[in-house]
Amino acid sequence: MAASSSLRALILVFFLLPLLTEGSTRRYKFNVVEKKFTRLCSTKSIATVNGQFPGPTLYAREGDTVLVKVVNHVPYNVTIHWHGVRQLRTGWADGPAYITQCPIQPGQNYVYNFTLTGQRGTLWWHAHISWLRATVHGAIVVLPKRNVPYPFPAPHKEVVLVLAEWWKSDTEAVINEALNSGLAPNVSDAHTINGHAGPLSGCSSSARDGFTLPVDNGKRYLLRIINAALNEDLFFKVAGHQLTVVEVDAAYTKPFTTDTLLLTPGQTTNVLLTAGQGAGTYIVTASPFMDSPLVAVDNRTATATVRYANSVATSAVTTTKPPPQNATTVASSFTDSLRSLNSQQHPAKVPATVDHSLLFTVGLGVNPCATCANGSRVVADINNVSFVMPTTALLQAHYFNVSGVFTDDFPGQPPIAFNYTGSGPRNLQTMSGTRLYRVPYNASVQLVLQDTGIIGPENHPIHLHGYNFFVVGRGVGNYDPKSSPSNFNLVDPIERNTIGVPSGGWTAIRFRADNPGVWFLHCHFEVHTTWGLKMAFVVDDGEGPNQSLLPPPNDLPSC
Ligand code: C2O
Repeated sequence: MAASSSLRALILVFFLLPLLTEGSTRRYKFNVVEKKFTRLCSTKSIATVNGQFPGPTLYAREGDTVLVKVVNHVPYNVTIHWHGVRQLRTGWADGPAYITQCPIQPGQNYVYNFTLTGQRGTLWWHAHISWLRATVHGAIVVLPKRNVPYPFPAPHKEVVLVLAEWWKSDTEAVINEALNSGLAPNVSDAHTINGHAGPLSGCSSSARDGFTLPVDNGKRYLLRIINAALNEDLFFKVAGHQLTVVEVDAAYTKPFTTDTLLLTPGQTTNVLLTAGQGAGTYIVTASPFMDSPLVAVDNRTATATVRYANSVATSAVTTTKPPPQNATTVASSFTDSLRSLNSQQHPAKVPATVDHSLLFTVGLGVNPCATCANGSRVVADINNVSFVMPTTALLQAHYFNVSGVFTDDFPGQPPIAFNYTGSGPRNLQTMSGTRLYRVPYNASVQLVLQDTGIIGPENHPIHLHGYNFFVVGRGVGNYDPKSSPSNFNLVDPIERNTIGVPSGGWTAIRFRADNPGVWFLHCHFEVHTTWGLKMAFVVDDGEGPNQSLLPPPNDLPSC
């Protein structure tokens, strides 16, 4: 009798209670270690998580709490960012170095502790210090809550595809050399799909290289695609197959079918692929998109293969031609097709009114540099401010009211109006500063991101931490506050965390500042972030019980 009642208690505690509570706790250990990898017939040591490139996939469900213990075994500072995770009230776990935390120093560790609230889909994690994210990155798969179906036909299988760039040399040396010269860094030597450039990469020993996705005829696959490249937008195609887009940046979309995807660094896209070709081998491509003639990119195409189960290695290979590098129309037609699902279960909560209306120019500048190659260096800025990284974390300075670390006078408008998409003013010099823009809790923000033509127009993938935003408008040329808003989509605009501002154009986004903390906004081209194309919002606490930033964890690293 006693035995059976304690058994019942055990069953209750171990099996039933977890089903009744909100979510479970998932624990991961990320050892940051160096490991030798051979790619393109050349071997180098890279920073990795757990010796893997790409790193391990983090799996969780909506509502789960995730604890990741990051242990730094390499001789340099490290942080990890959970790209796209909203981090509601848990900015301490966001990860950008000197923004929300001091780095994890060699030999130290830190437990990132966050809950996945109101999000499901594909996100990713990456190092957020210097250029370490080149090799320190991996997928985050957030499944819907148990027994909640996808709002699209269930796939038979799910596959993560991480697109990235590979340099034969050490990427820290690449950016350091660029900073010394004042010029642009070298482009990568290859693109990769799940760590491999592919059999067509031109390196003789790579004939058998490449990622293969085995498929069964008639089955449906959910491809979770991530652009983890440092500096390049990528087109993605699968020969002989159409792709149905169902989600981007962990937000469901109205499904639409296309043969070509475009992902900027930082973006993720989920597509359904139906294996309907019967048999054979089909080439998958990842190739660069760059419609600014002045900017050099790595023009090599990474390849992988889709192989039907009943096919032998020698059976017909179907190839596909990637879009030309400067295919603006292919890029825009993809971008213009994206719409929020906006269903009853997943409404698009677009702020209808605007409390803070901001216009940020994003682009390049030229500053004097006595030791540089041309006596000047290329820099980047937002509203003519090249952001200077502090030496202590901004979030700590905000929470503990430490003065002298940042000011909250970031300009909400360009300091001088000019023909933004023209060649720019005569003086191309930028100001520098650690300036933040302050927003009260729950304010609605409209932010127009305006590319500039300084040096040359260029697409900029802008990423905001701590929030998803709605992309309400987009256009070429200069944003016109009078006429441009008349075409805004306030009904079902795409919701995401990273958006490509078109070369020589603008994009308007809206978000509600319902997450207190300090939140980084930056170009996800790593070279532009390094050059200063970044700023941060400081969002004040609200008055309500769940409207304030939580206290910092005990193991938060110090500088
Ligand atoms: Cu994926 Cu601040 O970055």
